[in-house]
Amino acid sequence: MASEHERRLTEYEAQVDQLQEMIKGLEEEVVVLRRRLQDAPKRVRTLEERLLETKGQLAQAVSQNEKLSATLREAREHIAALREEVDKLTMPPSAYGTYLGTNDDGTVDIFTAGRKMRVALHPEIEIDELKRGQEVVLNESLNVVLARSADLAGEVVTFKELLEDRTRALVIGRADEERVCELAEELLGERLRSGDHLLMEGRSGLLLEKRHVDLADVARAAADSIAPRFAEAGIAFSATVQPAWVLGDANRIEQVVTNLLSNALRYTEAGGKVTLTVARSGDEVSLDVADTGIGIRAEDLRHIFTRFWRGDPSRSRATGGTGIGLAIVRELVRAHEGRIDVDSVPGVGSRFRVILRALEP
Ligand SMILES: Nc1ncnc2c1ncn2[C@@H]1O[C@H](COP(=O)(O)OP(=O)(O)OP(=O)(O)O)[C@@H](O)[C@H]1O
Ligand SMILES: [Mg+2]
Repeated sequence: MASEHERRLTEYEAQVDQLQEMIKGLEEEVVVLRRRLQDAPKRVRTLEERLLETKGQLAQAVSQNEKLSATLREAREHIAALREEVDKLTMPPSAYGTYLGTNDDGTVDIFTAGRKMRVALHPEIEIDELKRGQEVVLNESLNVVLARSADLAGEVVTFKELLEDRTRALVIGRADEERVCELAEELLGERLRSGDHLLMEGRSGLLLEKRHVDLADVARAAADSIAPRFAEAGIAFSATVQPAWVLGDANRIEQVVTNLLSNALRYTEAGGKVTLTVARSGDEVSLDVADTGIGIRAEDLRHIFTRFWRGDPSRSRATGGTGIGLAIVRELVRAHEGRIDVDSVPGVGSRFRVILRALEP
């Protein structure tokens, strides 16, 4: 009996041991689990943080992409606009017109193809920069796309009388025919006398400016403005002028005189002399600029009116200049149906003479 007890006890003891072993194992597992549980939130947080970071990066990438594509879109639009602009500019102009005035609604009045029209302005063109009488270029849809510098070519007509509105005049044209023309801005305030010569723009019939000029006035104006520079350079300068009416553009003729005088100044040494003379003889008017300067070699005379040509002595001297002055002079003189001659002796001096057809005063 007792041995039966003992056997059972041993059995129980073994079972207890086993159970205790199990408990220990479970306890250890609990410890590990506890630790894992403790760590878990931390890991979760780290994961969450990483997720957020990635999301941020993604958003950034998307927005950068959007920005990029917006920039691209903008660039593409810009290119299209530029191309349109280039097309417009390179497109053969479909018509020329003459600017007359601006209307309240921003449109402008122009003369084209023999009639007055109301057209729109290209946005690039500043209304304020347009002058009555200025030539403009129109595109196919008849917008003003380009303003050209006032072109002073045209026909000379004789003024007869001003009409009542004082913005139009009766003139006599080439074949003695009378016509009514509009006055350009320059002429609006001007006192006009019957018999005055006016330049009429061919296409529009707009009267642009008075076309008779007293060469004496023009020469005097040029002389006055350059005289101080002669004094500074120690060159004696004198002007002798008599009334000499010619057909022409006062500003351009003054440019001729100024160019000749500045050459005389540049190519004459201190102590030298320069004279300006305007005289009329018969049906011609002459304007002379004579100097006692370095002169021009005979073999160089035929080159001096060539663009950018400069004589050896001028190139070696530190006188400045580009060699364009006389080319311009010749062009302007030709435009006035005149001619220019030169006499020159090296070491003695030069004389430039401009001849224009005289007009009865
Ligand atoms: N009065 C003069 N006396 C001597 N040489 C002259 C005179 N006028 C012109 N020349 C010669 O003719 C050349 C051409 O003259 P032009 O006026 O065309 O050019 P530039 O005076 O050299 O330069 P710029 O373009 O400033 O007028 C001059 O370089 C000079 O050699
Ligand atoms: Mg010159």
